[in-house]
Amino acid sequence: MANKISLKNDYPDISKSIELYNRSNRLIPKHSQTLAKSPSQFVFGASPIYLQSGSGSHVWDVDGNEYIDLIMGVGPISLGYSYPKVDEAIKNQLNQGITFSLPHPLEIEVSEMLRDIIPNAEAVRFSKIGNDVTAAAVRLARAYTGRDQIILCGYHGSQDWYIGVTEWNKGVPEAVQDLTYTFNYNDIQSLKDAIDENVAAVIMEPVTFQLPEDNFLQQVRQICTENGSLLIFDEMWTGFRISLGGAQEYFNIKADLATFSKACANGMPISILTGRWEIMKLLEDDVFFYGTFGGETLSLAATKATLEELRDKNVPAYLNEKGAILRDGYNAIARSLGMEYTRAEGYGYRSAIEFDPIGGTSLELKTLVQQEMIKRGVLWGGYNTMSYSHSDEDIQYILSAYEDTLPILKKSVDENNVKGYLRGATIEPSIRRIHNFNTRPKKRK
Ligand SMILES: Cc1ncc(COP(=O)(O)O)c(C=O)c1O
Repeated sequence: MANKISLKNDYPDISKSIELYNRSNRLIPKHSQTLAKSPSQFVFGASPIYLQSGSGSHVWDVDGNEYIDLIMGVGPISLGYSYPKVDEAIKNQLNQGITFSLPHPLEIEVSEMLRDIIPNAEAVRFSKIGNDVTAAAVRLARAYTGRDQIILCGYHGSQDWYIGVTEWNKGVPEAVQDLTYTFNYNDIQSLKDAIDENVAAVIMEPVTFQLPEDNFLQQVRQICTENGSLLIFDEMWTGFRISLGGAQEYFNIKADLATFSKACANGMPISILTGRWEIMKLLEDDVFFYGTFGGETLSLAATKATLEELRDKNVPAYLNEKGAILRDGYNAIARSLGMEYTRAEGYGYRSAIEFDPIGGTSLELKTLVQQEMIKRGVLWGGYNTMSYSHSDEDIQYILSAYEDTLPILKKSVDENNVKGYLRGATIEPSIRRIHNFNTRPKKRK
């Protein structure tokens, strides 16, 4: 959409956001949604806290400030806000009903589409959030192999089986923590060291921001097969983005089970489990995975419309091509300023901006960039997350905002005083690790 944002002379007025935030105090701890959207992830006092509306790649906060969104709901908004084709599909279905007392034909239609798109989708099940399907995949793997242990690499949600390996493990019984271990991306030896005959499954994000080296994914596949462990690809981010069929298609590797959500429904809450029939058929009898809203039809209608659009417009190619311009543009600006301590890494559809701790902590550097990007009308959370609605004009605008922001960061680093430039509290760490994430094998004797 046309970019009407102009450089703000001052930071945005966020008084209504602050007023609402005060109302939420002692009522909604940390707020709902995923951690990456909580107020703790945005520089308090200089960033909006609440959004009111969105159109295309732009959003408006409750004070009426307009921003280009580079977060896109932390993944679900693959096409754009208020995207007509998807909204029409939702409205049409709304006229007929939302959740029914028997299955609805849409469940079959969308499953058939997924069978055509996703390499291992011999069978399909739907649920609501990513958590549900990663947990179901782990349960299925345990049931299928008769083994208990899980090895992982990535972020997989807030269920006990996963969160127990992180520093947010309060409330997870030790007995559960002891069943999950981790390995390092691109470090095949760390997987070899961790895997044994007790391992039911290796679950991983096929890629985050590091590209696989030395046929890493092929090697993981082979080790799993040789060990009799299932390979589960958690494709919440790669699904429908790195290519339409996700990482399995992109890297030509079949996982035994795969999990999806985010990009497939342009904002509606739905998650997908796919896999080999031989494993998935356990859901017919032995493995319990049911939920009241599993077949909710507004999300299924949105998924159908979104998948058609992603396929017909070749959206993954667009995201990767346009996002690469942003990633490479950021790196060119940083290099031209001699700022070797910051870089954009990853694939076009989503790259991460990284900061080495120089002149302040990495989080302080990130906070300053966020503050200055928001001042310039870009809602920024440390990533270049692309949607089909991000126009060339948006991209040029974001690059010009980086061109203004990075010299400010450089000055603060040169003065060894990044913190002194912040107008609010430093943002808190998020759970996602870019390098060396979750590398805390807990094997106990
Ligand atoms: C790779 C991955 N797996 C699982 C999840 C959990 O999904 P949800 O927050 O919908 O439960 C996420 C969410 O960000 C994710 O990125």
